[in-house]
Amino acid sequence: MGTGPVTGLPGALAGALDGKVALVTGTSPNIGGVLASGLAAAGAQVACNDVVEATAADRVARIEAAGGEALAVPFDVTDAEAVAAGVAAVLERWGRIDVLVNCAVRFDTMGILDMPVERFRRQIDIILGGAFLVTQAVARSMVERGIGGSIINILSTAAWQGQAGNVGYSTGKSGLINFTRSVAMELAPHGIRVNGFTPTATMPDEPELADRFRTAVARATEAGTMAFENLNPWPRLPTPSDYVGPVVFLASDASTLMTGSNLTIDGGALAKYWPQIPARPAAANGDDA
Ligand SMILES: NC(=O)c1ccc[n+]([C@@H]2O[C@H](COP(=O)([O-])OP(=O)(O)OC[C@H]3O[C@@H](n4cnc5c(N)ncnc54)[C@H](O)[C@@H]3O)[C@@H](O)[C@H]2O)c1
Repeated sequence: MGTGPVTGLPGALAGALDGKVALVTGTSPNIGGVLASGLAAAGAQVACNDVVEATAADRVARIEAAGGEALAVPFDVTDAEAVAAGVAAVLERWGRIDVLVNCAVRFDTMGILDMPVERFRRQIDIILGGAFLVTQAVARSMVERGIGGSIINILSTAAWQGQAGNVGYSTGKSGLINFTRSVAMELAPHGIRVNGFTPTATMPDEPELADRFRTAVARATEAGTMAFENLNPWPRLPTPSDYVGPVVFLASDASTLMTGSNLTIDGGALAKYWPQIPARPAAANGDDA
């Protein structure tokens, strides 16, 4: 087992989370796991959650191999008792939780005409019910200790735009936007900040996952339903490592007074006038195409 992909932590944020404890849900080898490694690289002790025990354990091993401190807390974010036990385990180990990243998700790409309601309900429960339960348990622990904190809800560009054939995901993620605002308003008096973080279609850092993603992109392009490579203003898609700096910033005291807000790292996708096909000059913006 290697130390995992480069964390993407900018030098200016080294030590930004020294002395802080973070809990990340859904620490797959894609985005959540890389964020957990990035928070650890910035100095945090990191509790890695996933419903798949081996996934959480793998991320802990990678963080430890890189010299960080981590704890596996496998639980299903929709199971109230399991969430309470998982959060209690983190508090028992480190005495506090300063940072929560709600990242767990189930991708179930179906549309309104075909999606069985049970699948819609399960997807919404993981995205919204999970964020509710884990945020509630962690926020209560912060309030009890009077320590303040930072809660980051991972959104998606699909939270801000309507995606055909992805009704559960789009609905759940857009629900997280106002969950973020509502909880931010309630927790502000306690010094707890709550923000959204918006990634977009992401090229995985892990080579095997990247191959799978390229295949999916090629299929969508062939089917004529998506054109990831042509329509994003930036000449390449973001990778999980690109998200580390911004998420560490949201987690750290560098973003004090930022709450009820959102940070978008999408290469300009949401800002683009919809019919525009972006220019592709050679070595645009000094980045690789
Ligand atoms: N991958 C992308 O292109 C992309 C784009 C925009 C936003 N996002 C968002 O980024 C986040 C991470 O995406 P990813 O691609 O790394 O996803 P992923 O599918 O690789 O990881 C999600 C993890 O959540 C875990 N999980 C599922 N149900 C759970 C439950 N009930 N309790 C606990 N864990 C559970 C899974 O086991 C998995 O390890 C998600 O919130 C996703 O919506 C991803």
